[in-house]
Amino acid sequence: MAVVDDIVVAPDKRLATECAPIEEVTDEIRALADHMLEDMYATEGCGLAAPQVGELVQLVVVDVDYTKGKRHPYVLVNPRIVVADGEERETGEGCLSFPGISVRVSRPSHVVVEARNLDGDLMRYEAKDNLMAVCLQHEIDHLHGVTMLDHLRPLQRAKMMREYQAALANGARPGETGDE
Ligand code: NI
Repeated sequence: MAVVDDIVVAPDKRLATECAPIEEVTDEIRALADHMLEDMYATEGCGLAAPQVGELVQLVVVDVDYTKGKRHPYVLVNPRIVVADGEERETGEGCLSFPGISVRVSRPSHVVVEARNLDGDLMRYEAKDNLMAVCLQHEIDHLHGVTMLDHLRPLQRAKMMREYQAALANGARPGETGDE
């Protein structure tokens, strides 16, 4: 697995900032999406949000299915969760902005997301009980300044922050998730 150098790593104000909606899909936005996909594949992540590369706009890339070498990228412009329900499920999550750790996060198991694609078409994504459901929620959180650690109870959060500091001190780099 490769490590990439341009990922915004916590703590950083850009990871706690509300991102601006994209008014028009320009060449700049298309280039940003390409760049984010490149970083995501290089680090074998399943998603990446624009603030993680320092751009405070509502853009997310996701691909939960490229294990057989075939890529299925989704680029979501201004995504919003229109339904989040179903049983809460706890799964292990990692984040390129928190290298070296993975945390147990509980989220609704079913989501419906609406977003524009790069052609400006309104798309609707539905995911239930799978990595896509987790990934969509995790990445869209980033657009609103929320990280996976913000979902933890205070004690657990403090513990994971200590673990994260230790991982950083040990030289953890984006793309390394540590053990669950
Ligand atoms: Ni993340």
